[in-house]
Amino acid sequence: MTHKIAVLPGDGIGPEIVREAVKVLEALKANHGLDIALTEGAIGGAGYDVAGDPLPAETLALAKASDAILLGAVGGPQYDTLDRPLRPERGLLRIRKELNLFGNLRPALLYPELADASSLKPEVVAGLDIMIVRELTGDIYFGEPRGIEVRSGERVGFNTMLYSESEVRRVAHVAFDIAMKRDKRLCSVEKANVLECSELWKEVVIEVGKAYPEVELSHMYVDNAAMQLVRAPKQFDVIVTGNIFGDILSDAASMLTGSIGMLPSASLDQNNKGMYEPIHGSAPDIAGRDIANPLATILSVSMMLRYTFNNEAAAQLVDDAVSKVLADGCRTVDIYSEGATKVSCSGMGDAVVAALG
Ligand code: IPM
Ligand code: MG
Repeated sequence: MTHKIAVLPGDGIGPEIVREAVKVLEALKANHGLDIALTEGAIGGAGYDVAGDPLPAETLALAKASDAILLGAVGGPQYDTLDRPLRPERGLLRIRKELNLFGNLRPALLYPELADASSLKPEVVAGLDIMIVRELTGDIYFGEPRGIEVRSGERVGFNTMLYSESEVRRVAHVAFDIAMKRDKRLCSVEKANVLECSELWKEVVIEVGKAYPEVELSHMYVDNAAMQLVRAPKQFDVIVTGNIFGDILSDAASMLTGSIGMLPSASLDQNNKGMYEPIHGSAPDIAGRDIANPLATILSVSMMLRYTFNNEAAAQLVDDAVSKVLADGCRTVDIYSEGATKVSCSGMGDAVVAALG
């Protein structure tokens, strides 16, 4: 069965990092029997440029008809003055919502070779392997009412933090299932000392946890979790949290691993159809210079193989190729240190393809 993959490069460094990940997919197709068909679509600012819409109807239809989606990044300063619904970020949020991709997996894994690139001491991060499960289609990102309006003679801005039980329940199941395949420890992160929304979150996670007696469930307020992530990150196995807390904590977790340029993600629906993207943004300041790190996107391909195509062997091939390239000393500028070999974005992609064999 041919796997249909929608390729959505997006903006900024999106096209160049996606190009390298596509090289990896093409090499798996040519030399390792991976049966795939790729179709490209426009999203974000690129979507606005071609169709006046950050999620053109054609792109949404392509994404719906595909088994998996590979996305680069969206956003750029030239779009910041557009009306809010036309901005690139809205395209990303809409595709997540339209495809019901509520379960966002953001692994933070430290490659031993990059221990020096982390801003923390090597002993604090050595062996780090955390999985953050971020809820992706609810919370203050989507809650209504929202807006900016005039009240009592001045403007007020407002958003609504909101979770339904069913939304919490389904993402909690995703997190418990993942914990079962790992070290069986799950930490639910919220702000239940202040927010009713978090109070409900915590209650529902505890309820769901009754079906997973083997998993050790703990609870942490988000401010403490932020501190613990930089103080003693190895205490965590799996973290489950809401959309906004997960957005913030996953950026913090990424730097533990040396560079945000290393972190892939998967966003899954109920049937493990998924969208795969690096967690970093479009980095317009370095776009078009062939210096971005494509590894987060290449590792997103590995997640696609593992979670949507159930092809552990191919996923492992990609993971091993990345490890080999790092062990060989190849480094893009963001992870460069003395004595390593500095490579470009395309140079890194070529090295991974060569390491695939
Ligand atoms: C992310 C990004 C997005 C988010 C932005 C670009 C809308 O920061 O994927 O983490 O906030 O979810
Ligand atoms: Mg983010």
